[in-house]
Amino acid sequence: MKAIDIEPDERIVILTGAGISKESGLDTFRCAGGLWSKVRIEDVATPEAYARDPARVLGFYDARRRGLLEQGVEPNAAHRALVELERRWPAEVLVVTQNIDDLHDRAGQGNLIHMHGELLKARCTSCGAVSPWLTDMPREAACPACAARGTLRPHVVWFGEMPLEMDRIYAALAGCGLFVSIGTSGQVYPAAGFVREARSAGARTLELNLDPSDGAPLFEDAVYGPATETVPAFVAGLLGRG
Ligand code: APR
Repeated sequence: MKAIDIEPDERIVILTGAGISKESGLDTFRCAGGLWSKVRIEDVATPEAYARDPARVLGFYDARRRGLLEQGVEPNAAHRALVELERRWPAEVLVVTQNIDDLHDRAGQGNLIHMHGELLKARCTSCGAVSPWLTDMPREAACPACAARGTLRPHVVWFGEMPLEMDRIYAALAGCGLFVSIGTSGQVYPAAGFVREARSAGARTLELNLDPSDGAPLFEDAVYGPATETVPAFVAGLLGRG
């Protein structure tokens, strides 16, 4: 990888997608055999699906929650490299993840936004409270905050809903010197448009993916390969060890 032209006082924004968690054993969505090849988005990941058949939607997320909490699903070298970058880069490093798993959190990422929500949290549609939730979520489960029953949903952003903390994300993109996209196919907006925002703010742009994403032509630089190889090499290079 050629040296990235960024000054130590410049901020870095990193977008991650399902590809960064693949080598931890979690499915992606659109790769061969991915989640959306097994179930339709319209049946499990929209507000309409939840209104039509809440048990089916809750069951879909129960299975993913159980899978995430299974023995052996751990952060990998790519997650750990981003934590090292946050801790050692002199300016701000912000990780914006599309992933609802907690692997960045478990790795120790501090400055982190889950723009599509979090699988291990529940949201009450009555009082709005967001609570940790590590077990199955039956339809009649009680909200830990207001005790209402039948009002809980996964704290996950569904298709057609607004992702979380967009103002903070756009402000970070407007002020960064480097935007890096890791493990995402660049097919879902608004995340897929972040590279344009960064470029218009004068940031350098880098894609680290298994293969070229839909947004590949928009990136100045790219390295293709598994995240557990490309991300540690990128961080080592930036911190002056590569
Ligand atoms: N290392 C790096 N990249 C990888 C790896 C790997 N080991 N394995 C797969 N990839 C790449 C694939 O090449 C692909 O471009 O990760 C990307 C995964 O793409 P998607 O499955 O589309 O996942 P993502 O881009 O995160 O999806 C975005 O869509 O369905 C919604 O809300 C969901 O957050 C998700 C959003």
